[in-house]
Amino acid sequence: MESQNILVINGNEYSFSPGETILEVARRNGIDIPTLCWMKRAAPTGACRVCVVEVEGARSLVASCATPAAPKMVVRTETPQVMKARRLNIELLLSSGQHNCLVQDLDMDSWTDFQLKAMAPEEHKDLCPVYGDCRLQELAIKYQVRGCRFLPAEPMHKIETVNPFIVRDLSRCILCGRCVQACNEIQVNNAISFGYRGTRSKIVAKGDRALRDSDCVFCGECVQACPVGALVLTQDLETNQRYKGDTRLVRTTCAYCGVGCQMYLHVRNNRIVRVTGVEDVGPNYGSLCVKGRFGYHFVHDPERLKTPLIRENGAFREATWEEAYQVVAEKFAQIRKESGADALGVLASARITNEENYLAQKFARAVIGTNNVDHCARL
Ligand code: SF4
Ligand code: SF4
Ligand code: SF4
Ligand code: FES
Repeated sequence: MESQNILVINGNEYSFSPGETILEVARRNGIDIPTLCWMKRAAPTGACRVCVVEVEGARSLVASCATPAAPKMVVRTETPQVMKARRLNIELLLSSGQHNCLVQDLDMDSWTDFQLKAMAPEEHKDLCPVYGDCRLQELAIKYQVRGCRFLPAEPMHKIETVNPFIVRDLSRCILCGRCVQACNEIQVNNAISFGYRGTRSKIVAKGDRALRDSDCVFCGECVQACPVGALVLTQDLETNQRYKGDTRLVRTTCAYCGVGCQMYLHVRNNRIVRVTGVEDVGPNYGSLCVKGRFGYHFVHDPERLKTPLIRENGAFREATWEEAYQVVAEKFAQIRKESGADALGVLASARITNEENYLAQKFARAVIGTNNVDHCARL
């Protein structure tokens, strides 16, 4: 049976497992097929059609991301017909909105105030906020498409800047649906969906409200999924994050809870400017919650406590760790002597590791002598 699961791609035979798509078999074997709307861990939608390939006997080109591999299937990924179709689809997507980056003929009159403002910090008035970090632009350059053959569609959607963390510029949305999948299938927050029909189609939140007035929890997953500049982090605009080659990635484990999400800190000039999830590894496989993705400003906060403080005569003074331990130990001993061990309690945290929580209860029971141990996760 196994030997029947063979298909031919570009003249070579490859085996596949039942359920695998043409795209998955091709990528597993190092054959490049471009994608825009396809997203790992979500059901394929076949929305963008830049992944089209030729399948012998099929009446038209097929979307490789949504077509299961079949025995004896003969696939070609780079015929002139395939290339022509991909180019046309990229061109149509560029014309579907305000994609006036360098892949278009520059027409400054079509720039929105938001776009102009986004450019201002770097004084590159001709750059989009995601210039250099845009999958559509990357494909347009690769397929040598400038996107000016068709008249660009009139922008129909106002830019939404009222939300914390996220700016939505749906004039650049290509309706790939990745944000909807990220929100509904990956994070299961169900905050956004497709709304309206035909040319009025739009990604909507709670009957077309701003994200801040919807069920959105600002996890930022949709921004990480968006292949273009339709969803941008407010902080990226503020910190001028676009197109920065001098940002290094530091891999670490999120310290906010015990899940242990793997994340990249994007560090520039020794400061964290962005956080993204690490793809392909557990437990989070690229996802992060609002705390992991956005809660890093304390790291550089000037008011962050870096040394222990001891209160003396109603005021705090800086102390060494040794001094602080000494004071705490003396006070604990004094309380236990005067009022008994149960006058003390230990509150542990979901923000520390299992091992540290184990030590906390051990300290309470074996050192202090009380079973008064509790944990914030009980909330
Ligand atoms: S979203 Fe991408 S394709 Fe559109 S203008 Fe920005 S960089 Fe260009
Ligand atoms: S930020 Fe999170 S909850 Fe809000 S729309 Fe995006 S994916 Fe959904
Ligand atoms: S907002 Fe971005 S991810 Fe969502 S449909 Fe539009 S282009 Fe795709
Ligand atoms: S990636 Fe296959 S249709 Fe979009």
